[in-house]
Amino acid sequence: MAGSDEGLLLFAWRGCVFRVPDGVQPPKGGSLFFCRHLAARPGERVLELGAGLGLGAVLLARQGAAVVATDVVPAAVEAVRLNALLNGVTVDARLGDCYAPVAGERFDLVCTNPPQMPTPPGRGRDDAAAAADNGGADGWALLDRVIAGARGHLRPGGRLVFTIFAFLGRETAYARLEAAGLVPSIVARETQPFPRIGYERLEHIRAVEPEATVPATGVPATVERFVVQGALPA
Ligand SMILES: C[S@@+](CC[C@H](N)C(=O)[O-])C[C@H]1O[C@@H](n2cnc3c(N)ncnc32)[C@H](O)[C@@H]1O
Repeated sequence: MAGSDEGLLLFAWRGCVFRVPDGVQPPKGGSLFFCRHLAARPGERVLELGAGLGLGAVLLARQGAAVVATDVVPAAVEAVRLNALLNGVTVDARLGDCYAPVAGERFDLVCTNPPQMPTPPGRGRDDAAAAADNGGADGWALLDRVIAGARGHLRPGGRLVFTIFAFLGRETAYARLEAAGLVPSIVARETQPFPRIGYERLEHIRAVEPEATVPATGVPATVERFVVQGALPA
């Protein structure tokens, strides 16, 4: 029978088990870094944009938050629903682009580990792997929209939390948050292996990165990552 000999991919972490279905990216170093620095108080309303298989959403729900999780990939939304069920929590999983599934709604925390790999012109694709990685020409395509929409979706005193690779630019992140009326800070930083897909795009990254973090010559072994917060004044 077709599909009967393909195995079942599971990811176990922090007392939870997550099913990793076909077409949904398994958790990577960035996912764990992101989730380690997500915190919500019981009862807080939380939105995770681009939830993937629901790692962050499930862990936040286990902290007692009321979580809405979105993704543009239908298999991811199904995975979030299944993984919430598997771990005994409720997550409101919705299909759609950026803030479209939560029009008119406000949250205490909006968070995302977004696709952010700078993507050379003509190299974009229309599949789930590309949706997980590709961040437009300079890596900021989705993040710019997330930041621009944050004030309209945060409650007073709420916070936007997201990850960036250092080559997107920490000062650039601060400037974009300030321009959107949010108070920026670094929640955490971590050095990780340089992403494999980044090696394929090294010259492009060097050409577009705003703060010259990648050495001009040679092949970097590591990249710094940041969890960045933008707080909306109360
Ligand atoms: C880097 S993955 C992160 C997945 C998961 N949150 C994690 O940390 O492992 C980015 C996710 O964003 C989703 N995504 C891409 N473009 C999106 C968009 N315009 N709106 C909502 N989600 C999007 C992708 O399908 C993917 O699941």
